[in-house]
Amino acid sequence: MKVVVTGGAGFVGSNFIRYLLRNVPDCRILNIDKLTYAGNLNNLSDFFTDSRHHFVREDICRQSTMEKLIRGWEAVVNFAAETHVDRSLMEPEKFLRTDVWGVFSLLEASRRCGLKKFLQISTDEVYGSLIRGTARESSCLSPSNPYAASKAAADLLAFSYYKTYGLAVSVVRSTNNFGPFQHPEKMIPLFITNALENEKLPLYGDGRQVRQWLFVEDNCRAILMILQRGQTGQVYHVSPGVGHRNISIARMILRLLGKPESLLQSVKDRPGHDRRYCLSSEKMRKLGWRPEWSLEKALAATVKWYQENPGWWGALKKGAFQEYYRKQYGGQTC
Ligand code: NAD
Ligand code: DAU
Repeated sequence: MKVVVTGGAGFVGSNFIRYLLRNVPDCRILNIDKLTYAGNLNNLSDFFTDSRHHFVREDICRQSTMEKLIRGWEAVVNFAAETHVDRSLMEPEKFLRTDVWGVFSLLEASRRCGLKKFLQISTDEVYGSLIRGTARESSCLSPSNPYAASKAAADLLAFSYYKTYGLAVSVVRSTNNFGPFQHPEKMIPLFITNALENEKLPLYGDGRQVRQWLFVEDNCRAILMILQRGQTGQVYHVSPGVGHRNISIARMILRLLGKPESLLQSVKDRPGHDRRYCLSSEKMRKLGWRPEWSLEKALAATVKWYQENPGWWGALKKGAFQEYYRKQYGGQTC
């Protein structure tokens, strides 16, 4: 298996490469990443020098360079994206550039190089907020924020390449991931690291928004399954099923760390904040996938990883992120 992984220095991408190296002995991986604030070579340190992994720092928006790099490879799995919803509210153009134009550039390069498979990594956010019920793969797209809208646009563009040019595209839409190597701007690592430092856990609004939290390793197993056995022209949902309120997750984290509930703090809500996501993953279950990690076990493993790796997240929290975070939310309460 010769796979190009874009965005492989980010959270899910680096976990996917690690999973591939452990589970597919004869794989070859070309990891292309621009190393934005979210890309981190420290995420790759345990396999950087593995002879099956080759890293190139490059921007997916550079189409002719992409064409040169991916020629001769079999498949592209595209994780590269701007991913933080809060940032998309402040700098939407960056999201349109990478999450739409970048995908176009990769699709075009893949078509020209005759690649055998193109997996676009998408998100549950494309359906927008669901007050009740469950989104199926055929449900209408109704994104609420610039991040989600750019991901929805990319999905449609990817399918146009399948229909028009016969490029073997599949789209994977997963729910919220968590686990090792997730940037501490995202809710679970932010709450864990704040609790470790006895700082407040900033819950947006009433904290009753519902997400289906998926352990990243379960997602990586699903993505590999789709790469190997998924049908082209299809969307696949990856979801653990059960949804939880943000406030419940925050309380679980505090309990795991033996910290008081007085650390919970309600702050100003995110504009356009989706209340609830809910994906059905029946199609993946028919393919033989199911989550192997319970929320309790995965959250405990994640908390342990952040406890044991303060050097990894301390550096990120001290840098540009802290300034960004303070500017946006510092001191604001409901
Ligand atoms: P991340 O922000 O941790 O990583 C994104 C990576 O993409 C970084 O390494 C970054 O340097 C790279 N990148 C950004 N712009 C680039 C460009 N122009 N060219 C090359 N590389 C670039 O993101 P993540 O959480 O790992 O998410 C990966 C993918 O999974 C994204 O497409 C995201 O939409 C999707 N997704 C994530 C989740 C989640 O909960 N994390 C859930 C559903 C879907
Ligand atoms: O749903 C999948 C999406 O999950 C991915 O497509 C995105 O790339 C990824 O960033 C993530 O988006 P979210 O906006 O859901 O993740 P985030 O961790 O930012 O927020 C999760 C929930 O927690 C959401 O309801 C907002 C809330 N939240 C978040 C932060 C950062 C808080 O209450 N306080 C916070 O400080």
